[in-house]
Amino acid sequence: MNKKNALTQPAPSASPRKTVPEPVAPKKVAARPVQQVTAVEMGARQREISVSEFFTKNRHLLGFDNPRKALLTCVKEAVDNALDACEEAGILPDVMVRLEVVPTGGTTPSPSQATRFRITVMDNGPGIVRQQIPRIFAKLLYGSKFHRLRMSRGQQGIGISAAGMYGQLTTGKPVKIISRTGPKAVAHFFEVQIDTKKNEPLVHENKQIEWNQPQGTQVTLEVEGKYQKGRASVDEWLEQTSIANPHVRLIYQTPEGETNEYPRTYHELPPAPREIKPHPYGIEFGMLLKMLQDTKSHSLSGFLSSDFCRVSPQLADEICKTAMVSPTMKPRDLKSHAAETLYQTIQNTKIMAPPTNCISPIGEKAILSGLYKQIKGEFYTAVSRPPAVYRGNPFIIEAGLAYGNRPENQTKPKQLAMPKAEGEGEDEDSELARVIRYANRVPLLYQQSACSMFKAVLSTSWKNYGVTQSRGALPGGPMVIFAHMASVWVPFTSESKEAIADYDEIQKEITLALRECGRRLGLFLRRRERAASEYRRRNIFELYIEEVVEACNRLKGGKLLKEKLKAQLRKIATSRTGGMKTDQALGKTGTGPEGLPHSIIVTSEGVEGEVELASQVEADAAATVPPVDADLLGDEKLSVGATKSRAKKAHLRADKTPQSKAAQMGLFAEKGSSGKKPIRTRTQPEKPNKPKRPANAAAPRRKK
Ligand SMILES: Nc1ncnc2c1ncn2[C@@H]1O[C@H](COP(=O)(O)OP(=O)(O)OP(=O)(O)O)[C@@H](O)[C@H]1O
Ligand SMILES: [Mg+2]
Repeated sequence: MNKKNALTQPAPSASPRKTVPEPVAPKKVAARPVQQVTAVEMGARQREISVSEFFTKNRHLLGFDNPRKALLTCVKEAVDNALDACEEAGILPDVMVRLEVVPTGGTTPSPSQATRFRITVMDNGPGIVRQQIPRIFAKLLYGSKFHRLRMSRGQQGIGISAAGMYGQLTTGKPVKIISRTGPKAVAHFFEVQIDTKKNEPLVHENKQIEWNQPQGTQVTLEVEGKYQKGRASVDEWLEQTSIANPHVRLIYQTPEGETNEYPRTYHELPPAPREIKPHPYGIEFGMLLKMLQDTKSHSLSGFLSSDFCRVSPQLADEICKTAMVSPTMKPRDLKSHAAETLYQTIQNTKIMAPPTNCISPIGEKAILSGLYKQIKGEFYTAVSRPPAVYRGNPFIIEAGLAYGNRPENQTKPKQLAMPKAEGEGEDEDSELARVIRYANRVPLLYQQSACSMFKAVLSTSWKNYGVTQSRGALPGGPMVIFAHMASVWVPFTSESKEAIADYDEIQKEITLALRECGRRLGLFLRRRERAASEYRRRNIFELYIEEVVEACNRLKGGKLLKEKLKAQLRKIATSRTGGMKTDQALGKTGTGPEGLPHSIIVTSEGVEGEVELASQVEADAAATVPPVDADLLGDEKLSVGATKSRAKKAHLRADKTPQSKAAQMGLFAEKGSSGKKPIRTRTQPEKPNKPKRPANAAAPRRKK
């Protein structure tokens, strides 16, 4: 074999197996590509996908992944829209939510067994003009809020049409809408469905009707769902909505036929947020290119100052000069390289932070009033942070805290073992704090651990504030932590709007707000603990004073001025046990909590701190029967009657305020609040001989 041949020949292998020639036929088959479809055939299959078809297949992206969550999502979308519409029109919202079981197969199952529900949400808002109704309720990505920068609950233009589409998909029933734009206008009734292929509305019914509401909108959806109380339920969502929206009066008719009323405890509308233009720091390069094409301005300088906020004509000229482009050139003529330089210059120019009148925070007082109304504790506080900015979007973080102990003898109601619904925690969670999260006043009940707010709660060192906390866990104890983000654009992690994305700026603000709440709680607990131990010492001294005075009197042969000596010894005992400070810390002097702004302290003697606000909440809870009930609830007069009797009892109790507030001590809201009736919980008459808890009951566990 010559050298050339040796090179062309396959090298002898060390392995005897490899020398065996492999069968030729299979190798040839594997090498030949199997062409089943040609490019032409593939091309013929390409089709546009309608947005409704996409979301029909991916309904989990919109929060319709399981029947229980779907029921909540439908209620949530309708209530969010109702509140947005009322607030935008400057009307104090009165919202009615009714859940009814729909009979299936000729029988009406119990609410817990039912699989079909009729959801009705009615508001007293501005109503909707007739022409817009079909597209609002039966066309995805249609709405009035997406293109503007202004705080509102809705953002995407998907919410209510997606709920209608889910109903159509699961029950085949259309969405029914009644809307009236004013007392002089006629009410219109519509039945609409969505044509998912075209993402266009199909109108089944359109007529004028008699409606007993002067104005507003009523939406009725029939959907497949599951009704189960407890964590992440419709009941919990409505309860939390009422905490963050104390200006809303909410009537909720449960599928069980009960009527729960969440009264209005704040009688002013939140300040109406203003619409703003985008901030130059918040836009990406591609966005700038698009804006340059779409602008109505004729000069670049005019474009910068009129299409962005916080850019004055002078600043616009300055930016153009630095970017070496003519301020008078047409924005459309600015092409890629020059546009990129302009973009970089904008990012490097110092521009004032965006205005914050586009956001309407809840406010410390309203948070306090909401927490005080819904949660029974001993200490309440609220913090509103100054405005901050992420990606050019202004936002405000607010936090609140309600703290209180359960009485020792209160045993937890035994629950039957049943599978946990999604979002429900395990039982051990009951010893941990509960976090309630909000975005633009809407409670977020799912995907807690993915949310930036929850992560901030975990990363806060609650031990510094006298509260127990295991590593990487929630703080322990009977505590509810409230966190709210208000922004023109809340960065949700998905279209179902369940968790807030982890921007550093947002995380930092939440942490600062939580720390301030924690600091106040720590101050309250430490002061209470110190005062309680001094008070115990004082009581012991006082026990011996009698003995000492008697002994001295005997020594003096019965000639001692006993009362004078007693008073002197008491004075010494008081001064040795913290003096008046002890009394103040235990709420025995009636003065407010020093160094604890925007806080309420519930003591055995009454309420301290924001006393006026607390009494207002109590009074409102007592007067929960408004004359419009019959209108709002239509034929449900029986349930209203039940509410009335509760309200009467509440009124009796509210007369005793603030003393009666002592009864709240330790009656901290049940975790999960399953089956909690808002009025009943606040206004339940006390048992007459119920022993009052000692004032020191709130003392924290001492660190060992
Ligand atoms: N009860 C109502 N009263 C008045 N207008 C309403 C009502 N419900 C909906 N709308 C109007 O219909 C539009 C579409 O509502 P939809 O819930 O689909 O989207 P959205 O609220 O804008 O955003 P999101 O998808 O985030 O909820 C709203 O922008 C609002 O203008
Ligand atoms: Mg909406």
